[in-house]
Amino acid sequence: MKSFIQNLPKSELHLHIEGTFEPELMFKIAQRNQIKLPYSSVEELAKAYQFSCLQDFLDIYYQGAGVLIHEQDFYDLTYSYLTKCQEQNVRHTEIMFDPQTHTDRGISFETVINGISRATEDAKKNFGITSFLIMSYLRHLSEEEAFKTLTDSLPFKHKIKAIGLDSSEKGNPPSKFQNVFKASVLEGYIPLAHAGEDGNADYVWEAIDLLGIKRIDHGNNSLQDEQLVTEIIKRNLALTICPLSNLALKVVDDLKDHPLKKMMDLGLKVTVNSDDPAYFGGQVNKNYEAIQEALNLTKEDIYQIAKNSFEYSLLEPETKNKYLQELAAYFKSNA
Ligand code: ADE
Ligand code: ZN
Repeated sequence: MKSFIQNLPKSELHLHIEGTFEPELMFKIAQRNQIKLPYSSVEELAKAYQFSCLQDFLDIYYQGAGVLIHEQDFYDLTYSYLTKCQEQNVRHTEIMFDPQTHTDRGISFETVINGISRATEDAKKNFGITSFLIMSYLRHLSEEEAFKTLTDSLPFKHKIKAIGLDSSEKGNPPSKFQNVFKASVLEGYIPLAHAGEDGNADYVWEAIDLLGIKRIDHGNNSLQDEQLVTEIIKRNLALTICPLSNLALKVVDDLKDHPLKKMMDLGLKVTVNSDDPAYFGGQVNKNYEAIQEALNLTKEDIYQIAKNSFEYSLLEPETKNKYLQELAAYFKSNA
């Protein structure tokens, strides 16, 4: 099973680039930018990665991102992630980035986007990996601030595929961002959002009805509402599930209690992703392995999840089909 997962062609659809910041690289970049981290060693920093809830994690995550200053820093962070994609047979990835985490520190939007997108271009050339970028608005900030980010992004519109909504969910419902999502869609961005990770099913309703999202990031709490489940299936929206993130942030107490298999049985389309791999103890393949083992998933289940990862990607039909054919051939000879 481990080698079946390792060699399986797959796509990653829920990944925050700032969440891929491994302690070693963080120390290296902090040093070259002459920034002092409040930890004396890589080991001490890694030890701080113990969280009791989403907010606990977010505080450390924003602190880590604070050492990213130059375009090269964003390039190094992104290229390091894409190297790991290549090692795990990730063929396509849809990368979220949080511009406001950086622009609020005086880093220009241009610096951030150019560093990240140059790394994705190099990964396409060097590894054949395709990538899309998702610009995420921070929901703990105001809608007015999100509008400012939308304006900042416009000169770089050709480099950005979609918008997302992340950060502290409770108390920051999707309805708060209704106008900026509408304006972003008019600019050609595809709407996506985190919903139902920390917030309840009502937040998922708002995200699908008021923001018109095309895919649900997490969505675990959708299961609280049968009518919502029916609606998600009817609208053919996929859920980007992040098992090790759910475990680390106490969305579930034990992976054996994770609702992923139940979701599949209900007819929901799920994918498996790493969210913030540097913080949650595993890249995408480790997420596949952990959930497979906890829920006793079959090769057929794993194949279905990988299939969803391409089908519910934002890729154009031609590339999607190319990947799906490659995956089907893999399954046929390795089932
Ligand atoms: N930003 C990075 N990871 C996140 C998560 N799991 N939920 C909300 N915001 C995030
Ligand atoms: Zn996330």
